[in-house]
Amino acid sequence: MNILISKELATAINEQVGHELQASHQYVNIAAYFDGLALKKLAKMFFKQSEEEREYVMKFVHYVSETGGVLQFRPLPLPKPRLSLLKKPSSYPWIGKWKSPAESMTL
Ligand SMILES: [Fe+2]
Repeated sequence: MNILISKELATAINEQVGHELQASHQYVNIAAYFDGLALKKLAKMFFKQSEEEREYVMKFVHYVSETGGVLQFRPLPLPKPRLSLLKKPSSYPWIGKWKSPAESMTL
């Protein structure tokens, strides 16, 4: 079969497939985190996001296959640990500084 796409395009698609798979992997990790906290709607939303990323992967895979390109997936990094998904309160500088409108009006 003739290769109908350039080597550069195939390389770029392979790179993008890696990003899509990595995103899917991370979304599953986030979904599992929320599922473990019984936050089912949040978990469902992130599971759906993960599925969408895999749908993109499959579109790229079929495209490369149909054009005679070569799929070469790169190794996926591990998803970030669950605790790192949450920022420390110090990451939010406005915490502790917020005043209610009534407090703001007192002199
Ligand atoms: Fe994506």
